[in-house]
Amino acid sequence: MKFFIDTADLDEIRAANDLGILDGVTTNPSLVAKIVQEPDNFSYEDFKNHIAKICQIVNGPVSAEVTTLTAEEMVVQGEELAAIDENVVVKCPLTLEGLKAMHHLSGNGIRINATLVFSPTQAILAAKAGASYVSPFVGRLDDISTEGMALVDQIVGIYENYRFTTEVLVASIRHPQHVVEAAMIGADVATIPFKVISQLVKHPLTDTGLKRFMDDAAVIKNG
Ligand code: G3P
Repeated sequence: MKFFIDTADLDEIRAANDLGILDGVTTNPSLVAKIVQEPDNFSYEDFKNHIAKICQIVNGPVSAEVTTLTAEEMVVQGEELAAIDENVVVKCPLTLEGLKAMHHLSGNGIRINATLVFSPTQAILAAKAGASYVSPFVGRLDDISTEGMALVDQIVGIYENYRFTTEVLVASIRHPQHVVEAAMIGADVATIPFKVISQLVKHPLTDTGLKRFMDDAAVIKNG
């Protein structure tokens, strides 16, 4: 199972990368907005430079999202984003226009992450449009009392039926149990916020056990 970090924060990306468990990064406009210090002066060039900085930190796929609504504009932006670095994956929304853009961009060898996916039919369309990744948003489905992980299960099953090579990238992860369930279903990737990555490490028995070992280690005299 691959672990991506779901953030645009360079410090968080560096910290997760230092752990040696990081396979890639996903960003979206809301995550980018969180790290922008001067919103009035943040240009599209600044956005592309920020994506380039992420690519310098992590040796793996980095999803950068288009910020336009028409297929034509998404294709232009997608080509520009893909030109930043060979690891850039262009994120397109699962709309009719998004599908057209995905089909065009993937046909030209640009890797696509189909985002804002909330149904199995959308996931089938993403695979048929040549997306490299499909991103079901589990947390946002849970938010509206619909079991997000059931969607992941459906997508994994459907993709197996037809041997689609699109990777299932579980997004909108909110807690460690989402990671466990994604792994049990066999999802290819989990994109995880830094806070949840930190929670994956924690167990109270590790903490109390370590304290006891450190206390008992006092009998071992140094040097
Ligand atoms: O990157 C997309 C996704 O992970 C969004 O998560 O928490 O805003 O639903 P969230």
